[in-house]
Amino acid sequence: MSHSIVVIPGDGIGQEITTAAVQVLQAADAKFGLDLHFTYQDAGGTAYDKYGTPLPEETLAACRAADAVLFGAVGGNQWDNVEPSLRPEKAILGLRKGLGLYANLRPVKIEPALVDYSPLKPELARGVDLVIVRELVGGIYFGERCESEQHDGVERAWDLENYSVPEVERIAKLAFQTAQLRRGRVTSVDKANVLATSRLWRRTVEQVHAQYADVELQHLYVDNCAMQLAVRPAQFDVIVTGNLFGDILSDEAAVVGGSIGMLPSASIGAQTSLYEPIHGSAPDIAGQGIANPLGTILSAAMLLRYSLHVEQAADAVEAAVRQALADGYRTVDLWREGCQKVSTEAMAEAVAARV
Ligand code: IPM
Ligand code: MG
Repeated sequence: MSHSIVVIPGDGIGQEITTAAVQVLQAADAKFGLDLHFTYQDAGGTAYDKYGTPLPEETLAACRAADAVLFGAVGGNQWDNVEPSLRPEKAILGLRKGLGLYANLRPVKIEPALVDYSPLKPELARGVDLVIVRELVGGIYFGERCESEQHDGVERAWDLENYSVPEVERIAKLAFQTAQLRRGRVTSVDKANVLATSRLWRRTVEQVHAQYADVELQHLYVDNCAMQLAVRPAQFDVIVTGNLFGDILSDEAAVVGGSIGMLPSASIGAQTSLYEPIHGSAPDIAGQGIANPLGTILSAAMLLRYSLHVEQAADAVEAAVRQALADGYRTVDLWREGCQKVSTEAMAEAVAARV
């Protein structure tokens, strides 16, 4: 059975990291006979420069028709002054909405070889193995907003946060199901002491929980959760939260692992799903061949697992990443005395050779 994958490099380091991940996918294809077919599409600032829109209709249509999408990163300072509705970030937001990618899974697992790289003390960092389940197509990201208006003679702007019961039910179910396949614990994160949306969130999560009696549920306020991630991150199994809190907490959780360059994500839709590293386009190092491709390579492993259902190939890619790290290969963000400093391309080769 052949599989079609749309690759969207995007902007900045997007090109380099997706090239690296495709190389590793091709190694997995050669070993496991996956019959992968890659096509390339534009999005982000690069697409804006070419077509005047960050998300061309053709890109969205190609993604809808594909078995899976591999996404690099979008954004860059040169587009800072572009009209808000045409900013590069609109590409990823438009893809999430257009493909109905309602859940973003962001696993954070500290590779044994990288415990010392965590900004946390090794005894706190060791054993961290959690997944953030972030709601991705609702909340304040997609609420009504006003860029500027006059009110009593002063300028103001506003963004509206809203969540419906079905939106929360859908993400809560996925979180409980994810926990059933892991250690059976869900932490739901909100700000129910202040926000109405959070109170509806909490009430709905509790109702859904009734169908998942084998899973343990706890609630945390987002400020407390941010603190707990820094003082005792190993306590978490599955964290489920809304769009904005999930954006913030997943960066925090990522850095616990040593480098944000390591963290993959899967954005799950009813039909097609999309896979991307959680870091951005890093324009400051773009084009130098030094970006860490492992977050994208691990995203490709998630693609193999969740969209193509080739578990063995996914395991092989993840094991190859672990082995390359254990063998001392490091891109500059993770380099230390005694390790071998490698380029993006050389890291991809090292992983591909170990698949
Ligand atoms: C992420 C990113 C995006 C987000 C940006 C690029 C719009 O930070 O995927 O976490 O805020 O969701
Ligand atoms: Mg983010």
